[in-house]
Amino acid sequence: MPLTGTIVTGAAGQLGHALLEAFPEARGLTRLEWDVTHPAPAGLEAGLVLHAAAWTDVDGAEDDPQEAAAVNVGGVQHAAELGAPLVVWSSDYVFDGTKREPYVESDAPRPLGAYGRTKLHGEAAAGEGAWIVRTSWLFGPTSTNFLRTMLRLGAERDEVGVVDDQRGSPTYVGHLAAATKQVLELPYGTYHVAAQGDCTWADFAEAIFEAAGLPTRVRRITTAEFGARAPRPAYSVLRSVKGAPELPHWREGLRDCLAALDRLP
Ligand SMILES: NC(=O)c1ccc[n+]([C@@H]2O[C@H](COP(=O)([O-])OP(=O)(O)OC[C@H]3O[C@@H](n4cnc5c(N)ncnc54)[C@H](OP(=O)(O)O)[C@@H]3O)[C@@H](O)[C@H]2O)c1
Repeated sequence: MPLTGTIVTGAAGQLGHALLEAFPEARGLTRLEWDVTHPAPAGLEAGLVLHAAAWTDVDGAEDDPQEAAAVNVGGVQHAAELGAPLVVWSSDYVFDGTKREPYVESDAPRPLGAYGRTKLHGEAAAGEGAWIVRTSWLFGPTSTNFLRTMLRLGAERDEVGVVDDQRGSPTYVGHLAAATKQVLELPYGTYHVAAQGDCTWADFAEAIFEAAGLPTRVRRITTAEFGARAPRPAYSVLRSVKGAPELPHWREGLRDCLAALDRLP
């Protein structure tokens, strides 16, 4: 597929950044250039749409599910209306987390919260000419994410309480963005693309502190103790049975992300 005329929505987000590195010929559009709750700006044309714009505040979606849906469902619909092949990223949070082995593409979604519901409805809004890439626990050197939060807290505190009863696969946006090229070789459809290996948030935090050389201790706490507003799946490891690209292990993602952080100005 020729990649001329590729646009990346949500270009200021962590995945948007990584996509612009993997697709240097693409044109990135931030929220200021295209607020995806509205139809595309007049005259915008594309040969391929990499739709990384999304409402990603999982707890905030419980307070404002309508605005979250305007972005995550309406936004996908507006991206699809451009009429170009479309890649949409969806989430492990479309599943309820009751399984204890990896979720595959044919497993029935049952989101626990408002964010997951908007992502599931967004999948449906993408239409026939789309790749739906479900991924999980994204982190990268920019934007707001768990890794950057831990590095900040680790620099401030001796000990951080981190949830130890949710299991998933922390996925480096650089690896996900690079794998998008392989996704484009597959037929349209839904694919699970997340890092190899799995861990709890507490395991991930410990690995971050160790890799960053921080002495910070991790106090393992429960989801109930942490008390977030939105329910989250206790287990949301993803695996593909449809030939989706395999990503490196999350520990390799952590190494690559810290190296990318070091290179930032
Ligand atoms: N983060 C995760 O752990 C995770 C896990 C699984 C799947 N995903 C999915 O992966 C995709 C990329 O997520 P991410 O982690 O890169 O998110 P992110 O860093 O929060 O980036 C999302 C971007 O979308 C922009 N945006 C929000 N509302 C918009 C609107 N109305 N119009 C245009 N742009 C808007 C945001 O702009 P502002 O900065 O101005 O708000 C932000 O730049 C999303 O579809 C997300 O649901 C994420």
